[in-house]
Amino acid sequence: MLILVVANQKGGVGKTTTTLNLAASLAATGRKVLLLDIDSQANLTTGLGGKKTFEETTITDVLLDDAALSSLIEPKPDFGFDVIPGSPDLISAELEMARVSDPTSILKRKLDNLAEQYDYCLIDSPPSLGMLSVSALRAADKIIIPLQCEHFSIEGLSAMQRTIFEINEATNSNLKIDGILRTMFDRDKERARQISDKLVEALPKQVFNTIIPRCDLLAEAPSEGKPIMHIDPEAKGSLAYFALAGEVIAKFEEIKSV
Ligand SMILES: Nc1ncnc2c1ncn2[C@@H]1O[C@H](COP(=O)(O)OP(=O)(O)O)[C@@H](O)[C@H]1O
Ligand SMILES: [Mg+2]
Repeated sequence: MLILVVANQKGGVGKTTTTLNLAASLAATGRKVLLLDIDSQANLTTGLGGKKTFEETTITDVLLDDAALSSLIEPKPDFGFDVIPGSPDLISAELEMARVSDPTSILKRKLDNLAEQYDYCLIDSPPSLGMLSVSALRAADKIIIPLQCEHFSIEGLSAMQRTIFEINEATNSNLKIDGILRTMFDRDKERARQISDKLVEALPKQVFNTIIPRCDLLAEAPSEGKPIMHIDPEAKGSLAYFALAGEVIAKFEEIKSV
């Protein structure tokens, strides 16, 4: 199982939209996909027509090492993937995590138990660099950073790089940013094109070739509780996320020699 973490401490950059629609695109290729929502706002969960969980056992119990992930899996047969919903009680999770030892290692350990069941796990993370995001980053095989081509996005990227550097120092790991995804792109905007060009010039290996254009249907799809390709597979947002899935497969899946 390849764990992809979609992260950016800035809100509104397309993390949830990317996690959901990339998952649906990967699932459309027949790959077994699990989606994990660790944002207390649980937009991913509600965007799939689910309710934010107020169940007795939630993802927070998993993060506090009191429950297994497997008990929380909800199949979404219409979309071909499974989901572990987010929960409003994640707000207090970060405070409570202080009482367990090495709290940010727990998620990785719990995910290891599901490794045989899935080809991919995609994690939607909150807009912060707290313990929840760090837990996700530590579990990551590949880190994807969605960003809008604006001045402050580049600053946000430096903050992500610093956090990853600090995690590596603290845990002797070797995480890096594997994919930078340009989202909500307006090709008519000169400034956006300039920043995009600069980004590719500075980080040619990390930036995905695929660009996610601004697309109204991407913003409307969650109100129907569906990934965009289950509403209109020909919409430009659908085509873009299909292309991204192709790039992820080509870039991240190791070629197994016979
Ligand atoms: N490519 C896009 N075109 C138009 N709207 C988008 C696009 N991507 C995301 N959005 C909308 O922008 C808002 C923020 O996106 P979201 O994925 O929720 O970001 P994040 O999870 O980083 O906070 C949402 O309302 C979403 O529907
Ligand atoms: Mg979100």
